[in-house]
Amino acid sequence: MSTRQSLRQSLQIGSHVLNGFLHTARVDLYRSRKIPYPAMLKSGTVRFKTDNPWPQPSPISANMPYAVLHVAGDELKEFLATIVARFERQVKFSWLSAVPYLKGRPHLDCPDDATFTRYLTQSVYTYFMTDTLDDADRELLAKNGISPESVHKSDLTPVSTVDTFPGLYCTGSVCYFRETGDGNFDIVGITMVDKQFQLGDLLTPSDGNSWLRAKMRVLQGATYLSLFVTHPRCHFPMDAVIAVTKTILPDDHPIPKLLAPHMYLQLPLDYSVLHIKNGPGYNDPLLYYTAFSGKGASQYRLFEYSFAGLPGHPAFPPYTFGYLLDTRKTDYLAYLRGYHDVILGFVRDVVADVDIDDLVLEWFRQCAHYTRGFGTSDETFDKEQLADRLAMIIWNCSVVHSADHREFYAIPMEHKPTRLRIPPPFTKSDCTFDEKDLTQVDDRLRHYMWHEMYVRPWLLKKLVDVDYAFTEPTMQQANRDFISALKAYDTSLTSNEYAPLAELATSIQW
Ligand SMILES: [Fe+2]
Repeated sequence: MSTRQSLRQSLQIGSHVLNGFLHTARVDLYRSRKIPYPAMLKSGTVRFKTDNPWPQPSPISANMPYAVLHVAGDELKEFLATIVARFERQVKFSWLSAVPYLKGRPHLDCPDDATFTRYLTQSVYTYFMTDTLDDADRELLAKNGISPESVHKSDLTPVSTVDTFPGLYCTGSVCYFRETGDGNFDIVGITMVDKQFQLGDLLTPSDGNSWLRAKMRVLQGATYLSLFVTHPRCHFPMDAVIAVTKTILPDDHPIPKLLAPHMYLQLPLDYSVLHIKNGPGYNDPLLYYTAFSGKGASQYRLFEYSFAGLPGHPAFPPYTFGYLLDTRKTDYLAYLRGYHDVILGFVRDVVADVDIDDLVLEWFRQCAHYTRGFGTSDETFDKEQLADRLAMIIWNCSVVHSADHREFYAIPMEHKPTRLRIPPPFTKSDCTFDEKDLTQVDDRLRHYMWHEMYVRPWLLKKLVDVDYAFTEPTMQQANRDFISALKAYDTSLTSNEYAPLAELATSIQW
């Protein structure tokens, strides 16, 4: 090689290296200072994002649903700007409104028997009801001369496993009701349940202060079970389906398009509930707005019952996808099911043009792998099954979640104890009952904050305004028809005491 050729080659190598350095420098400037660089605007430096969500074994327990620990950056940003910003405002300022509220209502309140019975047998608390009595129930009733005929029970046993902070009590219980026809019930009695799940004396309305103590204990149990056992079935098992959908299917595929409004913010919200130390599950008592009685570990045990079930307790079977359609038939469930039928009709229209191709089958296989009860064989997976699964996801994340919250919120705060400072009445012995003794000021402040931050419905996007951003005119018409059908169902519920359509959100967003 001549000297001239050698010089040219060296210059070419130097030029290539310089271009490489320049590229790296412009990438750095784009990342650090957002200085435009066309090469970066077209595509990033990685082919696949590292923050795409995907299910993985729960770091809390093998008895919990698959967890999703990676949330896409843009969704996290939206979560911080909306839900977290609201939380932060409340932590700073909501205590100001607690002052006048607690001045007017400094103590919890014990409801009369009719109100108490209505809560346990007609409201969202019907999730704890079963007509299956076990030997211990029958023995206790027989000992008290009570026939088990038409007796149902509200089973609040799981709460016994909570390990409480000093001075606080949290005890399981069983509440017996006799069916009087037309879905109505009379209260029969209440018994406390100890940590070994042994039953105490049967207390009845004629047992004076023991009876009042027992009712408050049941209401605390119902509050706990709603928050830690029954409502979590709506939240956490669906995370895996959402993660699979977001990662495996392209955004413009009909399935994520249909589910997008119903997956809004659920993953970061659920992550924050389970895995952040200042969340309600961990219940750090150093935070002035945490309201529960026990330490994180024993409260997380309740989350396990939510998914794995509690053997020997028919009210708490293991979770399975679509479980709600097979649960106890109540007026509340009939109201919810009406919406399910409307949603299923709409979804059938949407999936009519969706091919069950390899991509959809892979989506099904992954959802089935990570979600108990989603399905077993893709050989029989057809359009009707696709519509069934999609309708269940939409119904669960919009109607069921919002309605459950609204029902729970509708029960007055004073009837939903989270902390109680009087011991449970295991026997019929004489005792005092004064509402002043149930809590201290600190307990009530925490209670108020919890109710405002986590129980009050905080809708960001309403189901009645749902927009699927369909581009085809026929699909846009289907979107409009869906909203009309939702409105028609809402209007048909002339004496509806449950959540009206205007109070249903598109997704799990609080
Ligand atoms: Fe919720």
